[in-house]
Amino acid sequence: MANFITHTLADGIAQVRLDAPDSRVNILNADFLRELEQTAEMLAADNEVRGVVVSSAKEAGFIAGADIGQIAAVADAAEGERLAREGQRIFERWAQLPFPVVAAVHGHCMGGGTEFILACHYRIAAEQASIALPEVKLGLFPGFGGTQRLPRLISLEKSLDLILTGRSLSGIQALNLGLADECVTAAGLAEAALALLRRVIVDPKPVLKKRRDKNSGWRIWLLEKNPLGRAFLFHQARKKLQARTGGHYPAPLKALEVIRQGLERDLPAGLDLEARELGRILLTPACKNLVHVYHLNQRAKKAPGLDAQPLPVRRAAVIGGGVMGRGIAGLLAAQGVPVVLRDLKEDIISAALDDLRGRFERQARKKQQGSDAAAEKLARIQGTTRLEDLADADLVIEAVLEKMPVKQAVLAEVEPLLADTAVLATNTSALSVSELQHSAQRPGNLGGLHFFNPAEKMPLVEVIRGAATSEQTLATLFSAALKLGKTPIVVADRPGFLVNRLLMAYLNEACLIAQGGVDWLNLDVRATGFGLPMGPFRLMDEVGLDIAAEVGTTLCAAFDYLEKSSLLHQAAAQPDLGRKTGRGFYRYQGERTIGRNQALAQLLGLHGTRGATRADLRRMLLLMINEAARCLEEGVVAAPEDVDTGMIFGTGFPPFLGGTCRWADSQGLPSLVRELEKLAAAHGRRFAPAAWLRDRERFYGEG
Ligand code: NAI
Repeated sequence: MANFITHTLADGIAQVRLDAPDSRVNILNADFLRELEQTAEMLAADNEVRGVVVSSAKEAGFIAGADIGQIAAVADAAEGERLAREGQRIFERWAQLPFPVVAAVHGHCMGGGTEFILACHYRIAAEQASIALPEVKLGLFPGFGGTQRLPRLISLEKSLDLILTGRSLSGIQALNLGLADECVTAAGLAEAALALLRRVIVDPKPVLKKRRDKNSGWRIWLLEKNPLGRAFLFHQARKKLQARTGGHYPAPLKALEVIRQGLERDLPAGLDLEARELGRILLTPACKNLVHVYHLNQRAKKAPGLDAQPLPVRRAAVIGGGVMGRGIAGLLAAQGVPVVLRDLKEDIISAALDDLRGRFERQARKKQQGSDAAAEKLARIQGTTRLEDLADADLVIEAVLEKMPVKQAVLAEVEPLLADTAVLATNTSALSVSELQHSAQRPGNLGGLHFFNPAEKMPLVEVIRGAATSEQTLATLFSAALKLGKTPIVVADRPGFLVNRLLMAYLNEACLIAQGGVDWLNLDVRATGFGLPMGPFRLMDEVGLDIAAEVGTTLCAAFDYLEKSSLLHQAAAQPDLGRKTGRGFYRYQGERTIGRNQALAQLLGLHGTRGATRADLRRMLLLMINEAARCLEEGVVAAPEDVDTGMIFGTGFPPFLGGTCRWADSQGLPSLVRELEKLAAAHGRRFAPAAWLRDRERFYGEG
């Protein structure tokens, strides 16, 4: 006993410390939960106890959540329901303790951790705490009482927001909502928790009144304290959810129902409903797939296959202050790395710095930080036109024009200035890293970091292994990408790397289908109906028709089995180049589309004589699958996990489907192979099933 939890008793006050052995964080696995129950029983049996403070001994935070492995292993609804009931019973044991329990929260408090503090009688949070119920992101909802206790503690409207989005709250935000009774600095947490406990032992009324006051007022009275208002609130929440999820994510909708019905009953009946529905939701494909995506993310943090130790990056430099360069410099500065941003002209540098100042200020406002937060980040960026200023950088990322001679010239001038250990990366979208290495002094120190646009938002980074890239360089680039908060995958130096190759094959196919008489807008509607964030034509507008045409040409030249559509080439030769020019396939008002661009459709001879069918969409998706198999065959990436990580975090492939390969597995590879054979007979050899596909029943788990 006392593996996970210790407690001391002095002066009637029990101090309970959560401290899972051999772990950086506290995870509520079965053993931890059992010990939590035993602790509650022990405290209840001790006549000397007058109050309890629960805190965590982990520096990282309070409780990081429930054991996701255990959740993933649930194979039938009854088992899921039983797990939920057990957690509920243990937390209820704490709620029923006959003396006050104060939870003192610092750092992260996630999922089951938040449900535990909801069962405690009082909560005090450190300012920097991060408190959330993020279960919907895993395709489930809180099942240890969270859906029932939260709306009984704070406003229903805020509860819905927290549970249905998984958003996290800082300590201060938790205080403002009444989720925390007090908020203090991390250094003062232990003392303040004790003081709070002593006060509530004497008289709880002032604290409870303060809590009540936070959840009163005309809005709450109007919307939450009467059935009509509540019905309206639930109706609005459901409408918003439908719009946000397209109906592809069952968990938030079910959570909404569990909260609504639970509030019409007493707490035990509400808990009963929560457990029953949780058991069912755990079995949905969306839940299984989102847990898979969670594992993909965890896997990406471990640099699979890289043994070398990364070199530290104390100072970085970015060459090229255009669209990508400024985004990358901004990311480095935001993560605390001093960075020199070099371009050829002063005016480009000042435009880049102005742009970054605006971004940092917007971020600070959003996070409710003071104005120094933005100034601090900006101060880490030194804009310059002078080459000598790059000399101290441990990592140099180039983001100049996509032309080999320009990149070679940049390399030739910067390399002699740098230390022998400095690592260089090119952000090229399509040029060969290995070719660039031919003109490098230290080819082993050069690799690729392929960020996606916009660099500050898109999670994926392809880490490119050129023919001569050393393991240490690769490990350094991988770890730098992680430090920037990105999800990296290691990719071989082949045209289009992984993501652009799969995406371009799919986009090119969309063009061929439209040229065959299918209404292009209708094809976009099919694609978004499937769950993609935007359709192929809307995406080409976003990328820019000129750029898409260029990438298409490069890839079709590299892979001669592809059949190049002439559409993009024609489109790139006229002035409507996509969202950046206000018109492409669509017309735009800012970021919004305001209808088709008929003139372009006419010019390109797109008459759309028939609507898009499911078969048209499958034709595009199956080509993508075939290309993914070819990439695995050629060793572009090491495993199907890399494909799924790349397509979800680089293109927004629907997370509820778990990724491209996982979706293919759900369809069954043997039947996809038969479908591909038919497509090959009808449309050409690009559909001829890759040998890799023929050998296997599934992408995952076989062969
Ligand atoms: P951009 O045209 O916006 O910026 C390039 C910048 O490099 C310009 O400001 C130019 O003045 C500067 N420059 C040119 N030669 C230079 C030199 N010798 N020294 C210093 N600065 C120099 O281009 P963008 O879009 O930022 O692209 C940069 C690189 O990133 C390209 O290789 C591109 O293929 C790649 N990329 C672009 C993506 C995009 O969506 N824009 C996505 C991923 C990669």
